Amino acid sequence: MYGVHRNNVGRAMSPRPEAAIHATDLRMSYGTTRVLEGIDLDVRPGEVFAMLGPNGAGKTTTISILTTLLRPTHGSATIAGFDVAREPRRVREVISLTGQFAAVDSKLTGRENLLLMARLHHLPRRSVRGRADELLERFDLVAAADRLVGTYSGGMRRRLDLAISLVARPQVLFLDEPTTGLDPRSRQTVWDLVREVADDGTTTFLTTQYLEEADRLADRIAVIDEGRVVAEGTASQLKSGLGEAFVELVLADATQTRIPTDGSIEHVGEVLANIRRQGLDVQRWQVREPTLDEVFLALTGHRAAPTTDVIAGARR
Ligand SMILES: Nc1ncnc2c1ncn2[C@@H]1O[C@H](COP(=O)(O)OP(=O)(O)O)[C@@H](O)[C@H]1O
Ligand SMILES: [Mg+2]
Repeated sequence: MYGVHRNNVGRAMSPRPEAAIHATDLRMSYGTTRVLEGIDLDVRPGEVFAMLGPNGAGKTTTISILTTLLRPTHGSATIAGFDVAREPRRVREVISLTGQFAAVDSKLTGRENLLLMARLHHLPRRSVRGRADELLERFDLVAAADRLVGTYSGGMRRRLDLAISLVARPQVLFLDEPTTGLDPRSRQTVWDLVREVADDGTTTFLTTQYLEEADRLADRIAVIDEGRVVAEGTASQLKSGLGEAFVELVLADATQTRIPTDGSIEHVGEVLANIRRQGLDVQRWQVREPTLDEVFLALTGHRAAPTTDVIAGARR
């Protein structure tokens, strides 16, 4: 499918056909409130790209623009070479979106939801049932396939949501906070599934408040705060921005101290010798890399997200 589009309309019109997602200076305002202040993005085909940021940072707004649901106040974007403003139908043909809130119909069964989506996408009649079966199998929903979705747990709904977005084999998959509100076990399952989909070569753009999620899934991460990308890179590039590693000490009075190090035996040895010379009463020590949590805090001055438990609790 990609080849066909590229060879006629896409290649002729798009400036960056090699990028799966390309965005330039996206800005969005609601009245006088500016929620996106110039977002640039470049996602390569096959890449898993995470937009990491706290509530209200502008993640859903960005996804809505990239998936043609919202027009930006300024700037432009292409998906697989198609312009979101000028060629929205082309864009919709190559993408799929799993929104922040489950978009499945509770009054239908899991299988019916899949079949409905397959028909909406005009999948050939003879392949519709087979595709539904294949996805039910893969997303571990065979036993629940003929139950009403209204009886599904949150994790099952999320899995069905993901299955539905894969019905038409999208080239670029958008996932808006795919695991928010899920328990740790369901979260792990969704991570495994996203990883599998990505390993099949589907370009995946996901948003998340969870540093661990970005760390685990993404090839590259853009950290977004208050409508701006404040840092971008691989998880380890972001971490090394804070220094490669540090010696962390907990002293007898519970004071914590960190000493930056390149992690080499020579340097760590020097640091430890220094500490001994000063006669500090060290309770524990370790050499470690910064966590993404610490990176986020350093970049933005605040934490990315409350802990999972707090979020889960607040939602009830
Ligand atoms: N329709 C709207 N009208 C006014 N403000 C909005 C609207 N939609 C979103 N916002 C505001 O834009 C900001 C970014 O929202 P959003 O993109 O949903 O953030 P995120 O998905 O990162 O939580 C928030 O401050 C939000 O309140
Ligand atoms: Mg959101």
